[in-house]
Amino acid sequence: MGKAALITGANGQDGSYLAEFLLGEGYRVYGLVRRSSTVTTERIAHLVGQQRFELIAGDVTDATGVHRIVQQLRPDEIYNLAAQSHVGVSFDLPSATIEVNAVGPLNLLEAIRAESPHTRFYQAGTSELFGNSPPPQNENTPMIPRSPYAVAKLAAHSLVRLYREAYGVFACAGILFNHESPRRGEEFVTRKITMYVARLAVAMENNAGNPPGDWPKLILGNLDAKRDWSFAGDAVRGMWLMLQQGQPDDFVLASGESHSVREFLELAFKPLDLDYRDFVRIDPAFFRPAEVNHLCGDATKARRVLGWSPQVSFEELVTRMVESDMAREQDCHGLRCAS
Ligand SMILES: NC(=O)c1ccc[n+]([C@@H]2O[C@H](COP(=O)([O-])OP(=O)(O)OC[C@H]3O[C@@H](n4cnc5c(N)ncnc54)[C@H](OP(=O)(O)O)[C@@H]3O)[C@@H](O)[C@H]2O)c1
Repeated sequence: MGKAALITGANGQDGSYLAEFLLGEGYRVYGLVRRSSTVTTERIAHLVGQQRFELIAGDVTDATGVHRIVQQLRPDEIYNLAAQSHVGVSFDLPSATIEVNAVGPLNLLEAIRAESPHTRFYQAGTSELFGNSPPPQNENTPMIPRSPYAVAKLAAHSLVRLYREAYGVFACAGILFNHESPRRGEEFVTRKITMYVARLAVAMENNAGNPPGDWPKLILGNLDAKRDWSFAGDAVRGMWLMLQQGQPDDFVLASGESHSVREFLELAFKPLDLDYRDFVRIDPAFFRPAEVNHLCGDATKARRVLGWSPQVSFEELVTRMVESDMAREQDCHGLRCAS
């Protein structure tokens, strides 16, 4: 019999790739998804109905429910990807962010300790933990968070270590630098850019190749923020590798290259042969109250211990995201024309 895994946040970007990956490895996969009045399972719609995939309604902030689910399933592995995952939004929703991102993992670790000590646990940590500690950042770099999001993730990171040392739980924290994909949430800067480029491209197709004169601007914040971007599909393979080791440990997963938002824009606009500066307006409202300026990861430990390395380059990632949004936009435009 294959292993069983529970993924929280299974309908998120990473959750969808991880579910695909684990199904491919022969796992039985339980995806925890919270109730919503609208459909939130688009990213995993293609998996629903598959034999070894099951959705479970739940919320990581509900300690009783989490306890019951872990008690019933006693899975081999739990991947806690559930989060209020937007750093900017965490400044507006600090309490909710702390609740989901810190109390959520605590509920899962407690349930494992009490009901399923053999279960291996992965916690989705972040490069935002480092704040403005100078790059390159690795597992030993000082963690000085600069957002409610990162503060909550630091609590979760510390809980992983505590439950490992105090109770012997096989708990690992990934410290993941930004990872993107065509499934990235639409409110994140990378996706905002690629969706804008796609809409502009389709509009130009219908306008004899010229950009429409009154085309609305793309409104962004800090173009000089530098991030270490990789592909989400590469990231989930690293998460899984962490839980297959002899000993639990924490690992940075990163590409080791950093690029500014400005560079992302330049690449995304390249297929249109247009200058992004004619289309972008900077709005200080999109700057964070406390910025993290430069993240660039050192994943030496993951390369050495896990044999992990990213397969998709920055250029390839941007191209994939733009192409996917263009295809989506063309379909959508076609449907509008047909109706
Ligand atoms: N992507 C990155 O660059 C990156 C980098 C470092 C760390 N991380 C972390 O990695 C994890 C996955 O990231 P992602 O990009 O896949 O984020 P995402 O697309 O925003 O997915 C987050 C998931 O968490 C779910 N969720 C939120 N609150 C919940 C709750 N109370 N109970 C159960 N589920 C809840 C969301 O469900 P709804 O659909 O209902 O909102 C969503 O499915 C997150 O923990 C994130 O903080 C991501």
